[in-house]
Amino acid sequence: MRHLILILLLCNLPDVFPAASAETGAALYARHCASCHGANLEGQPDWRSPKADGTYPAPPHDAEGHTWHHDDAMLQDYMTRGGQAVLDDMGVSFRSAMPAFGEVLSPVEITSILDFIKSTWPDRIRQARDERLRPAP
Ligand code: HEC
Repeated sequence: MRHLILILLLCNLPDVFPAASAETGAALYARHCASCHGANLEGQPDWRSPKADGTYPAPPHDAEGHTWHHDDAMLQDYMTRGGQAVLDDMGVSFRSAMPAFGEVLSPVEITSILDFIKSTWPDRIRQARDERLRPAP
């Protein structure tokens, strides 16, 4: 009898842990980000050159890009509220083409995508990032 109860409890686990959180950062990246930032985080061609409408192509998130220059809080904010809101707040006049994902993805999902992106960086980039982001003594 006790075993039966245990089995029934285990069968109900998917209700306890919603399916969304089971999707890995890599899968979420592939679904929501790869169309612009590239399946291999390589970004779009000529990402440093503005397009005719004044927006820029999506930059790479790999070691060639500048994602690693920024701290986690800034990156999380950029993904959640989108580029325009963040840059407006910073007083930067720039037309952003980076959409907001705060309505589509939970904070946990956004963190897991960020963790996936960071996991692809080679050690030298991680070290350079740690040094760059370390507060001045
Ligand atoms: C419609 C195309 C598009 C999609 C989809 C998109 N981005 Fe972006 N993203 C951009 C563009 C373009 C920029 C360049 C900066 C700007 O325009 O604000 C950018 C910039 C960024 C930046 C800041 C720049 C950097 O590398 O430091 C981050 C972080 C980022 N995107 C993460 C993501 C993540 C994570 C996803 C998926 C959840 C995503 N983006 C989906 C177009 C997109």
